[in-house]
Amino acid sequence: MVKTTPDADVIAYLESHTYQETMDYFKISRMTIARIKKRNASQRKSDYMPEKIQLAIVGLGNAASAVIQGIEYYKSARRPTGLLRPTLAGYHISDIQVVAAFDIASAKVGKPVWKAIKENELAVVAEPPDDLDVPVLMGNPLDGYIEETMDVIKPANIAPVDVAKALKDSNAEIVLCLLPSGADESVKYYAEQSLKAGCAFINATPTSIATDKAFAKRYADAGLPLIGDDLQDQFGATILHKLILQQMLDRGVDVKESYALDVGGGSESLNTIFRARDVKRAIKSMSVAGALNIEAPIVAGTSDYVEHLGNGRNSMLWIVGNGFLGSEIIMDVKIQTEDGSNGGSVLADVIRATKVALNQGASGALDEISAYGFKKPPKAVKNPVEASKNLASFILGVK
Ligand SMILES: NC(=O)c1ccc[n+]([C@@H]2O[C@H](COP(=O)([O-])OP(=O)(O)OC[C@H]3O[C@@H](n4cnc5c(N)ncnc54)[C@H](O)[C@@H]3O)[C@@H](O)[C@H]2O)c1
Repeated sequence: MVKTTPDADVIAYLESHTYQETMDYFKISRMTIARIKKRNASQRKSDYMPEKIQLAIVGLGNAASAVIQGIEYYKSARRPTGLLRPTLAGYHISDIQVVAAFDIASAKVGKPVWKAIKENELAVVAEPPDDLDVPVLMGNPLDGYIEETMDVIKPANIAPVDVAKALKDSNAEIVLCLLPSGADESVKYYAEQSLKAGCAFINATPTSIATDKAFAKRYADAGLPLIGDDLQDQFGATILHKLILQQMLDRGVDVKESYALDVGGGSESLNTIFRARDVKRAIKSMSVAGALNIEAPIVAGTSDYVEHLGNGRNSMLWIVGNGFLGSEIIMDVKIQTEDGSNGGSVLADVIRATKVALNQGASGALDEISAYGFKKPPKAVKNPVEASKNLASFILGVK
């Protein structure tokens, strides 16, 4: 006869022990614990309080500001406007707790995160929480800034902290990397520190981390999830471009040529222009054309920096196709978005999905989460609908 453990015993034990201790004590897997928690959550909804998701953020720029503000904003919002998933596996966005933060800008380091995010282009619209106590720690500058962004970042002249130790001390379980595009050395450094501290790593930058086989193997060996690379916006030019092209193909239209080019005014746009334009363009073009298997010339990327746009981004899409009898169909679309906030909702899903991955004991580069939230995942899928379905199956533990 198979011996079963009463749910109540596991839940009671979990209150004062870690996942690992609970797994060892009852000789059960992370997946079983997750199932027990889920089962009991639906039975006693009012008593159920999911544990907080302990998040560390590297790079307190505009994207970080959106996540930090979102955690507070949706606590009191009457409607979940703008959220892709109000709850994900029982976790609300407000179950995310920022426990550590790293930056190098003199205007941010040493301040509590809520004060530091005011130094970005993205406006602060959420009310800060009462406890403002997580300070921004000095990170390792490495290649985090270039000559052209030096005046914006103004790196602090302070010795960096021991990042792995700070991560351990803060009990962080997930590190979210939001460094500038092209800061490859810095991104790799923080991926190493995260590994050393035993944290899952989410790479929102275009640097190859989840798509790097060596990093993926080391995270797999350490039993830690690795997610990335290059965040996909909630609703921006890349996703719109893919959806339109997919519809054209599905309706029998032959795509002849297309481009999607944008201008932005945030510090990331300035940084992209000077050191990551080609990389970003290659990723965006590949993300659109590669996933859809189109042979026509397709170009997608950032074309310029316009300071007075602030955190705004204007994207111009141009698509030419041939329909019945070779008739020409031409589309000229403009979409105007806000950079930082456009990443917030996808990041909120990805952070919560990474927590589910930790609960399930999943490790290494995780295809389902990466293909859902990133432009350059280890394994791309055809369209966002398929990516969303695969994520749902992953969360449910069904492959
Ligand atoms: N919608 C989005 O926001 C979005 C979408 C896709 C990709 N991304 C990616 O997310 C990343 C962040 O974008 P952003 O708009 O928030 O950028 P940002 O320029 O607003 O912020 C970057 C932050 O990193 C800090 N920094 C630089 N070097 C550092 C170092 N070595 N250690 C610690 N901190 C350092 C800077 O001081 C700054 O605060 C970029 O790589 C971008 O490509 C964002």
